[in-house]
Amino acid sequence: MNHFISINQLSNEQITRLLEKAKTYKATNYAIPKQLFAANLFFEPSTRTKMSFTVAERKLGLEALDFYPESSSIQKGESLYDTVKTFESIGADVLVIRHQADDWISELEQSINIPIINAGAGKAEHPSQCMLDLLTIYEEYGRFENLNVVIVGDIKHSRVAKSNAHALKRLGANVFLSAAPGYEDESLEYPYVSMDEAIPFCDVVMLLRIQHERHDEKHETSSYLTQFGLTKERESKMQKHAIILHPAPINRGVEIDGDLVECSRSRIFKQMENGVYIRMAILTYVLEEWGIIDESLIKEC
Ligand code: NCD
Repeated sequence: MNHFISINQLSNEQITRLLEKAKTYKATNYAIPKQLFAANLFFEPSTRTKMSFTVAERKLGLEALDFYPESSSIQKGESLYDTVKTFESIGADVLVIRHQADDWISELEQSINIPIINAGAGKAEHPSQCMLDLLTIYEEYGRFENLNVVIVGDIKHSRVAKSNAHALKRLGANVFLSAAPGYEDESLEYPYVSMDEAIPFCDVVMLLRIQHERHDEKHETSSYLTQFGLTKERESKMQKHAIILHPAPINRGVEIDGDLVECSRSRIFKQMENGVYIRMAILTYVLEEWGIIDESLIKEC
């Protein structure tokens, strides 16, 4: 049985099915009339991902279990493995985990016998964010083929960039990267462009925050917006239909002019809304995959 760890483990057909399922959940309420526990284990800060998983779980009728590392037995030296094994032992049916290590799954995947959903793995992968970004693009354009997408920012330290670049490419989009010197990731084989080159031809401009918490030293950001970010002037040169995405949290005035966050082409708050429905789809998908429920148990309500 597979845990939900990487966007690369899903086929294009599975991605499309999840997108369609999320659209169904967005249109109509569904719930599972069976007692099931979902534990949300976040070892790194989170607002959107943690809260939208919680809302998704509660909408489905799951009991959401909260966990705070700072007041848990982690403080007494308990390991990640022993913490996770504890949740399995007390009856959790599904685990949602975010952790700062890139490969935290490797010590868990063979020995944990309930499904685990990756809610952020270091700078490696963020598949549920990727899926909600795909849903937002899919709702906008109804396709991925031949869309020009530029991912802009701290590519090197961003898990969102990696999940999205691979998935979008595989789904037929033309993926470009734009990064300040030092923020490029040589392991990603996509063309690098400057913001001024990208802006006139891209259908989607996906902005990323500078991931300061993953840097060895604090970087100066006073000229970042004008050099590498989305200024009002650049926004005015975007195609009429082109949209702005950002996984948030946003640093207004750094990667994006603060006034553009709410502009008509921004889909940033729609991404947050879509996060709930795609996470409902991911939760039901893994519960079905692991034989914990079958589809007939998911009832319209
Ligand atoms: C992202 C993350 O945690 O990787 N945020 C999110 O999940 N919405 C991006 C970020 O922190 O910059």
